[in-house]
Amino acid sequence: MADPIGIDFGGSGIKAAPVDLTTGEFSAERERIDTPEKSTPQAVAQVMAELLKKFEDTKSAVGVTVPGVVRKGGVIGSAANIDKSWIGTDADDLLSDVLGREVHVINDADAAGLAEVRYGVAKGRSGLTIVTTLGTGIGSALLYDGVLVPNSELGHLEIEGVDAESRAANSARKDEDLSWEKWAKRLTTYYRALEKLFSPDLIVVGGGVSKHGPEFIPLIEINTEIISATLRNTAGIVGAAALASDKQG
Ligand code: BGC
Repeated sequence: MADPIGIDFGGSGIKAAPVDLTTGEFSAERERIDTPEKSTPQAVAQVMAELLKKFEDTKSAVGVTVPGVVRKGGVIGSAANIDKSWIGTDADDLLSDVLGREVHVINDADAAGLAEVRYGVAKGRSGLTIVTTLGTGIGSALLYDGVLVPNSELGHLEIEGVDAESRAANSARKDEDLSWEKWAKRLTTYYRALEKLFSPDLIVVGGGVSKHGPEFIPLIEINTEIISATLRNTAGIVGAAALASDKQG
């Protein structure tokens, strides 16, 4: 059967690639289109339809990441960094309709968590792993003995009276032009809060910025083992493709 296609809907770009699920690697070149300025469900669905035209196979299963809560059945429950009209949208229905085949959505950080547990650093790890993605916001995935507990939304923990992601996401580092040291201090505060509440066995740092892991991860002062993700910015696509294949049974 054709490789499933994963689509990653992010704040700045929408990216897609078919994934070979035996290796967790892309089986064709990744395609990307800028996220429309007004990122409404209809506008985003149209971009996804454009992206799919770039791949030959029109039958492959499709999985899509969304940067918000995804309730059972694909209804979106929150929209911190995307157009608010996503809230209450049945994204499985809308995207299946526009893309002309069965589509399933998953929270972006949950997709990254699934990818890391199947192909990356979280593979074979027992106990509680928390995968965090540091990007426009902070995403989180809780994996207990490799099983995902979806929609943890730990980027929105209130710390020192503010939404954690507004201080510690990679976008805060860029917007405020923070040095690695200054950002690592904020990350220390954030990850200490996670340690206190969850006593994790492993914390994984994902998102595109994890390619600079050696510059800031060693500066994060916590007691839990904390390591860079393996898949970085391919994790969303890989996790979404894995979901699409799981749902097909
Ligand atoms: C959203 C999460 C998402 C994360 C990363 C947060 O603002 O609430 O659902 O996983 O950003 O995109």
